[in-house]
Amino acid sequence: MSRILVVYYSRSGHTEFVARQIAARCHADLERIEDSASRDGVLGYLRSALEAIFRLRPSIQRARRRPRDYDLVIVGTPVWFWSVASPVRTWVHRHRSELDNVALFCTCGGSGHANAMDDLEALSGRPALARLALTERAVPQCQRDPALRSFLLELKRVRAVSVSLPPMHDQAPA
Ligand SMILES: Cc1cc2nc3c(=O)[nH]c(=O)nc-3n(C[C@H](O)[C@H](O)[C@H](O)COP(=O)(O)O)c2cc1C
Repeated sequence: MSRILVVYYSRSGHTEFVARQIAARCHADLERIEDSASRDGVLGYLRSALEAIFRLRPSIQRARRRPRDYDLVIVGTPVWFWSVASPVRTWVHRHRSELDNVALFCTCGGSGHANAMDDLEALSGRPALARLALTERAVPQCQRDPALRSFLLELKRVRAVSVSLPPMHDQAPA
């Protein structure tokens, strides 16, 4: 069976929620990218905004898991100013030589997701095998979202990933 790692950053929980759903459905290990300094409050927001706008790579804590130990790495980011969240930029830059097969997902308020995932692809140096974008409003119901289902099916198709698919929400009870 393929070894899969879901690695993500989340400041306010949306991306983490999706990461946990994906990891459970792909039987994957989970790695949260941890900041070295707090991003709470207004100052934390401003720092995040500046880092996203100027494409900076802030310090993050050392990863627990090595991407090279996995057949597929699924990277998740919130969209920050139409781009990748800066801690994810740091992580991908640090590990890009270990990333052979990559899939991407992001959560956002509603705009900039395509640009953010294009940035992530460029950072990782390869096209993603599959991409998923969800608005933060869609996150709580993502189990029933056809986009998540398509994402998982695509991973199954291109990498023979063993996935537990969520039920179709319009499926009639047996
Ligand atoms: C600094 C910052 C910049 C953001 N920029 C965007 C943006 O450009 N487009 C958008 O749709 N949402 C934007 N958002 C909203 C987040 O992408 C959205 O709330 C996301 O789901 C947060 O994920 P998280 O809860 O995992 O941190 C921004 C949020 C922050 C904190």
